[in-house]
Amino acid sequence: MAPRKIIIDTDPGQDDAFAILFALGSPAEIEVVGITTVGGNVPLPLTSKNALKVVELAGRPDVPVYAGCPGPMVKTLMTAEYVHGKTGLDGADLPEPVTPLQSEHGVNYLVRAIMDAPEGELTVCTLGPMTNLAMAMTMEPRIIPRLREVVLMGGGFFEGGNATPAAEFNIFVDPHAAHKVFDSGVPLTMAGIDCTYTAMMTLEWLDRLRATGSRAAIEAANLADFYRQYGSHKFGTPGRPIHDACVTGYLLAPKIYEKRQCAVTVEIVSPETIGMTVVDWWHVTGRRKNCNVLRRIEPAPFFELMLQRISALP
Ligand code: RIB
Ligand code: CA
Repeated sequence: MAPRKIIIDTDPGQDDAFAILFALGSPAEIEVVGITTVGGNVPLPLTSKNALKVVELAGRPDVPVYAGCPGPMVKTLMTAEYVHGKTGLDGADLPEPVTPLQSEHGVNYLVRAIMDAPEGELTVCTLGPMTNLAMAMTMEPRIIPRLREVVLMGGGFFEGGNATPAAEFNIFVDPHAAHKVFDSGVPLTMAGIDCTYTAMMTLEWLDRLRATGSRAAIEAANLADFYRQYGSHKFGTPGRPIHDACVTGYLLAPKIYEKRQCAVTVEIVSPETIGMTVVDWWHVTGRRKNCNVLRRIEPAPFFELMLQRISALP
């Protein structure tokens, strides 16, 4: 089977870095044709620099990185330095990138790449606020039927939210973008916090990752050491959810996920619940089941696979 062609839209972010390294460590199954960056965890200049740092860490400076939108379609950008540090990639001492950003805007790249690719060939994996993809759909609606799938980290339902009681960060930062994508009719798979909270990195796993000796694995473990400092008030264990890597894991091993096709809408009106992904788990509305909702992951095979693939990098 030819590798699956994907574009990763991202706001690195330590967990974004894991997702990207996991994908680049799996060349037989995944071809990352491009990366677009968005303002999210930290402002766009930093998420863009961080994406370049990650592809260089992976030994893949050939993967083009395109800077996209600095902030959401309607709201004002809310960042998350409290989780990711002021650089957005605190924890690893990675050199300033020597690879330049592409000159083309990330939204223009998304439109061009999807229109130029054979119909149904490209998958877009969004790991941050969905601004770039929503803007691309607005600029050129013809990309919608041409996409194979959108696999996103975002949302949640049974676990509530991590940005507000109702909303997960990626969706909360740009709920209008998410609403557009969820309403577009594009085939969707959603890795919300219901799923990612079952993908908890452990200290033992991080020790094993570091012990592999690969520079990418060692730096990833260093990133995780910083990333897991946040959240002790939420999680009773030293483990932390490696949210975005669940997207890559799904592309590689969908069978280890509990999932269900559901109708999902994004709330954009109420000040209390804006950004909530309303998952019709029991199909009580009879609405179109627009989204493959990932509910749980089997952690053991997921982390074994991720360790194997990241440590395969130089
Ligand atoms: O809620 C978790 C998501 O928000 C992850 O994508 C993390 O990187 C942040 O962007
Ligand atoms: Ca992210």
